[in-house]
Amino acid sequence: MEKMSENTTKIRKIGILTSGGDAPGMNAAVRAVTRYALRRGIEVMGIYEGYKGLINGKNYIKKFDARDVSNIIDKGGTIIYSARCPEFKEKEGIAKAAQTCRDLGIDGLVTIGGDGTFRGAYDLSTMFGIPCIGIPATIDNDITATDYAIGYDTALNTTMQMIDRLRDTCESHARCNVVEVMGNNAGYIAIYSAVAVGATAVAIKERTFDEDAAIKKIIQCREAGKRNFIVVISEGANINAEEFAKKIQAVTEDANMEIETKFARFAHVVRGGSPTMRDRVTAAKMGVAAVDLLLDGKTDMFMCERHGRIVGTDIMVATYADRKYKATFDPKMAEKFDPSEGDKFSPEVRAEVDGLVAERIAEIDTMLELSENISNYKIVE
Ligand code: F6P
Repeated sequence: MEKMSENTTKIRKIGILTSGGDAPGMNAAVRAVTRYALRRGIEVMGIYEGYKGLINGKNYIKKFDARDVSNIIDKGGTIIYSARCPEFKEKEGIAKAAQTCRDLGIDGLVTIGGDGTFRGAYDLSTMFGIPCIGIPATIDNDITATDYAIGYDTALNTTMQMIDRLRDTCESHARCNVVEVMGNNAGYIAIYSAVAVGATAVAIKERTFDEDAAIKKIIQCREAGKRNFIVVISEGANINAEEFAKKIQAVTEDANMEIETKFARFAHVVRGGSPTMRDRVTAAKMGVAAVDLLLDGKTDMFMCERHGRIVGTDIMVATYADRKYKATFDPKMAEKFDPSEGDKFSPEVRAEVDGLVAERIAEIDTMLELSENISNYKIVE
């Protein structure tokens, strides 16, 4: 995608931070960036607690050698910690962070996190000239410009394994389990885990959900002898998962069905744990590519996986792609979205963004259809 800005700073020392919600594989990315930068003769400073550490300065920052990132490739969480930092949204906070970089001679930053992390990096770079390259890491996989964000595969596998366990006990007791999974406003964890476990129904924010049809399906399948039911609800979906579990219980009771419905919220438990191979390898590829971009004089970009290839994407273009995609299903985002925003980009970039948006929409529809097609129920009116 079109690159908007260059940095002219000679990079001798870089800082690395993780920000926003942690994600498995962040450590593998910290390690890859550190080891590769050192190999290229660049000094590395580990910045603790994300932008908060950068604002607070030297007590939060440590010079890293190769041993500082030993034995972390398989560890969940982030050894340099993370924080959500409201102060960094204000110009004053960003100015303090830039000053820290100048005081410590940090010529560029690699920032690891989600879309909020990149917007922060963009501000730091455009307002105060600190070159920044981002690496996407969020279990939600909700950054439109990249097919893949570090942490997503681990979170999906953990979600799948946890639902598998629920199914065992549902089968023993003839139960339905309504499961709320994380994902912020994106339904990727929900739709992929729904397909992977053969869920009876799945609800996500991106599409409307027919509660009555789902309950009818449960009743019909129970009548046909099915004993276990899994309903997956994404946390951002326009439905209260716990209330829906109660509704299923009430309706099936009224219908004298021998089925009990329970509710489970997985929440942050799927954000922890040892990263899968996919997350570690993606972290390695993106970490090395991010350092290369900084050393090549690039800034305001973040690493993306597109159809299996690792590429750099301009943060502003990615932000536009995100807003455009989210406006297709979220009325609040649609209200804020101004289509003329795209005018500042070339026709090629606009066409590429349209392609990204179309791919995301197709992915959601394909997965929902797949989930429906493999569930053991046929609507007979
Ligand atoms: O972005 C990752 C995520 O885990 C989302 O799925 C969830 O909505 C949010 O972070 C939770 O945030 P916090 O860590 O602040 O509770």
